[in-house]
Amino acid sequence: MKRRVTKAVFPVAGLGTRFLPATKSIPKEIMTLVDRPLIQYAIDEARAAGIKEFIFVTSRGKGALEDYFDHAPELETSLRKKGKKDLLNTLKNTNMDSGAIAYIRQHKALGLGHAVWCARRLIANEPFAVILPDDVIAAEKPCLQQMVEAYEETGGCMVAAMEVPAEKAPSYGVLDVKEDMGSMVSVQGMVEKPSMEEAPSNLAVIGRYILTPQVLQNLNKIKQGAGGEIQLTDAIAQEIAAERDVYGYRFRGQRFDCGSKAGYLQATVAFGLSRPELRDEFDAYLAEMSSLRKAAE
Ligand code: UTP
Repeated sequence: MKRRVTKAVFPVAGLGTRFLPATKSIPKEIMTLVDRPLIQYAIDEARAAGIKEFIFVTSRGKGALEDYFDHAPELETSLRKKGKKDLLNTLKNTNMDSGAIAYIRQHKALGLGHAVWCARRLIANEPFAVILPDDVIAAEKPCLQQMVEAYEETGGCMVAAMEVPAEKAPSYGVLDVKEDMGSMVSVQGMVEKPSMEEAPSNLAVIGRYILTPQVLQNLNKIKQGAGGEIQLTDAIAQEIAAERDVYGYRFRGQRFDCGSKAGYLQATVAFGLSRPELRDEFDAYLAEMSSLRKAAE
């Protein structure tokens, strides 16, 4: 079994309803943390993990995403003339090599599992990564790189996992743990959006996966699951039922749920404070805001 992972799928065909009205005309993945769109964080993480082929599953109204990865000759010429080398380098990092990036259309938002299935012909018979760009993970070693390294030892399917409070479990896919090995757990079941009582653990799946091509075969037959959507979790759970290995990986890092307003605002503050050119001014502003609030209370 080939264990090198060189392809990644970025499902970006969701409707992004939690950010309406903005997402009426802007793809959620183009929203910025400071000055970089969410998608750039995802691409950088994939590159660090050794990904060479980037497969986007898009939908109507996502044209701005495709444009984002194009070269911008007029802009580059203008910056070059003005001697703005730093900005030129920033721009160059956003360019993708011809042929490295592919776009597949999901014609109807039938769920994450269906979005991944749409990429099946480009993935063919290889293990592949899935990155949900609205989960942004700040980590010393990028999350997918941590997972690829672990996967090279284990094979099978691997999902990124993190502990969540019991009342949050119904918002996630939740792992039923067979054996806890510390940074990794082996999994004996997975439930998408369980009730609090049904949740088999407090270990939730977040938006990074390494999957075998068998999962695509499973998706051929998967019916609508939780929320009426075709769930990726259900296709991975079928691997467990077929007695093939599935692991949860407790990544080291801080995950921000940028698909929710609160998570997006938290990420904006965290990434703002992480930037040397902004830190002092922004920190002083936040301290002032909190003292004003205390005074008002
Ligand atoms: P979400 O559950 O966050 O849904 O999808 P959403 O449509 O993006 O946002 P809300 O809930 O309406 O605000 C998780 C990921 O799966 C992709 C999304 O683009 C996102 O990256 N997705 C979801 C698809 O590509 N297709 C789908 O049919 C559903």
